[in-house]
Amino acid sequence: MTILVTGARGRVARAVLDRLHAAGLDLRAASARPAELTVPSGVESAGLVLDRPETFAPALRGVRQVFLYPEPAGIDDLIEAAATAGVEHVVLLSSSTVLAPGAENDPLASHSLAVERALAGSGLTRTVLRPGAFTTNSLAWAHCIGRSMPVPLAYPDACTAPIHPEDIADIAVAALTGDTLTGRPVSLTGPEPLSFREQLAVLGDVLGREVAVRHITRAEAEREMGRHMPAPVASSLLDLWEAADGRPAALADTTATLLGRPARTFRQWARENAGSFTGP
Ligand SMILES: NC(=O)c1ccc[n+]([C@@H]2O[C@H](COP(=O)([O-])OP(=O)(O)OC[C@H]3O[C@@H](n4cnc5c(N)ncnc54)[C@H](OP(=O)(O)O)[C@@H]3O)[C@@H](O)[C@H]2O)c1
Repeated sequence: MTILVTGARGRVARAVLDRLHAAGLDLRAASARPAELTVPSGVESAGLVLDRPETFAPALRGVRQVFLYPEPAGIDDLIEAAATAGVEHVVLLSSSTVLAPGAENDPLASHSLAVERALAGSGLTRTVLRPGAFTTNSLAWAHCIGRSMPVPLAYPDACTAPIHPEDIADIAVAALTGDTLTGRPVSLTGPEPLSFREQLAVLGDVLGREVAVRHITRAEAEREMGRHMPAPVASSLLDLWEAADGRPAALADTTATLLGRPARTFRQWARENAGSFTGP
C-alpha cells in the first residue's frame, strides 16, 4: 500500500517523507520538479505536474493514500485519476485562512479552499489540516537580521501562534498511519501566541544580540513586500496582520492536544535555524 507525498521539495512534505520512510512504509515522492528533488535513500520519486494529466497515472500507481499540497490547477482531473487508481484517503495541507469571510477571493486562501471544495465533492475520504502561520515565515526577516539592520514592520504587535513545520508533519503522519484524525478538518497552531515583536525578541535572545524593529507605514510595507510577492498577496497579508495587531492569537489543536506530545516552540525553531539569521 503505497503513500504518495506530493510537493515533495516543500518543508512539510519533506518532513512527512522522512517520518514515513523511518517507519518503513512504502512511499513515493512526487514533485513538479522531480529532477530537483532529494529523497531519503530507497524512496521512489515521480513527476506530478498538475497541468500535465499524463503525469498522474504513473505517480498514482498502487497508491492508497496521498499527502496533498493545495494546488488547484488540474485538481479535478487529479482527484478523478486518484479515485481510478484506487486511492482511499487524502490528507490535505490546507490553511486556516480558508475559514475567514471572503476566503474564495483572498489570494492567501483561495487555492487551498478550491482544493478543499474539489475534495469535498469527490468520494474520497479526506483529512484536512488547516494550520495558521508557520514559524518559517520569520525567515522573511533573515536578510535584515543577518545584516544587523532593524526589521521594518507595519504591524509589529500583530500576534500569531506560529507552528513548527515538523509539528504539521507529525500530525500529517498520524493522519496517514492511524485513524483518530481520519475524515476530520483539523485547525492547527503552535503552542503560544507571540507578536512579531516578541518573535524578534526570541530571535535576538537566541542570537545573543538585540534585534530592532523599525515601524513603517502600511504604504511602505506594501512597496517593500511587493518586491518579493504579488501586490494582492502583500495586501492580503497586511490585512491579516492589521486585524491581528495587538490581539492575542487564538490557539487551536497542536501535537499536545492531538498526539500527547509537547508542541515545538518558536524558540526551539529559532535555535534550530539560527544559522539562517547570522550573515549576508
Ligand atoms: N506559511 C504559512 O504561514 C502557511 C500557513 C498555512 C498554510 N500554508 C500552506 O502551506 C504550503 C507551503 O508549505 P511549505 O512551507 O512546506 O512550503 P515550501 O517549503 O515553500 O514548498 C511549497 C511547495 O513549493 C514547491 N516549490 C517550488 N519551488 C521550490 C523550492 N525552491 N524549494 C522547495 N519547494 C519548492 C514544492 O512543490 P514541488 O516539489 O511539487 O515543486 C513545495 O511543495 C502552502 O500551500 C501554504 O498555503 C502556509
